[in-house]
Amino acid sequence: MRHSILALVLLLGLIAACTTASGPEPVHSFDPTPWLDKGSRVQAASFAVLSTKLKGVMGKQGVSEAIQYCSLTAHPLTDSLSAMYDCTIRRATLQTRNPINQANDYESAILEDWASDLKDGKEITAVVQEITPDTVMYYAPIRIQPLCLNCHGQVGQEITPENFALLQTLYPDDRATGYALGDLRGMWSIRFLNKMD
Ligand code: HEC
Repeated sequence: MRHSILALVLLLGLIAACTTASGPEPVHSFDPTPWLDKGSRVQAASFAVLSTKLKGVMGKQGVSEAIQYCSLTAHPLTDSLSAMYDCTIRRATLQTRNPINQANDYESAILEDWASDLKDGKEITAVVQEITPDTVMYYAPIRIQPLCLNCHGQVGQEITPENFALLQTLYPDDRATGYALGDLRGMWSIRFLNKMD
């Protein structure tokens, strides 16, 4: 009996060793590092453009003009940045103001991971995924800063009743209010063609 158990253990060990040795070689290995660099450059440039324009209009013309400016130009701006950087840039969220920015399944999974990491007191950082042989996605968190509260904070406190009324007119299904400083607002979702130049 003892011998047969020993033999079985040896046999299993041999099978395991053989399977490992002759297992399929990885066909293709994906290195996320250069994509993290590239994505973070595109994301930083896009954030700089959007927030500089927004601050300019807010400073000169006030919050309500800036709301209308945002609603007219957020998409044209990300479209022209996409053309400039040869990729597709969008912002996605689980709590939309403009329903076109609703997160898809891939984006939702990452947003949910980040939300639970934040709850556990962990830091959140950008993620890269090769979703098809041709496509690499770069995702980076968007957090609430002081400036954002004017239009995404508490209604009646940071958001004035007049500005809330304007938001309701432009976005009847607005779900993007009630945020606090540091909250996860959404993500940059940047699609690259899977070739490094
Ligand atoms: C002057 C008002 C205003 C300010 C300030 C503002 N936003 Fe927004 N935000 C808007 C409007 C309006 C939209 C909808 C744009 C559209 O139609 O695509 C929007 C949309 C977004 C979206 C896209 C997702 C969605 O819900 O449609 C994100 C992400 C976002 N804002 C984050 C921020 C962050 C982060 C800040 C601060 C750095 C900020 N916003 C400051 C008005 C504002």
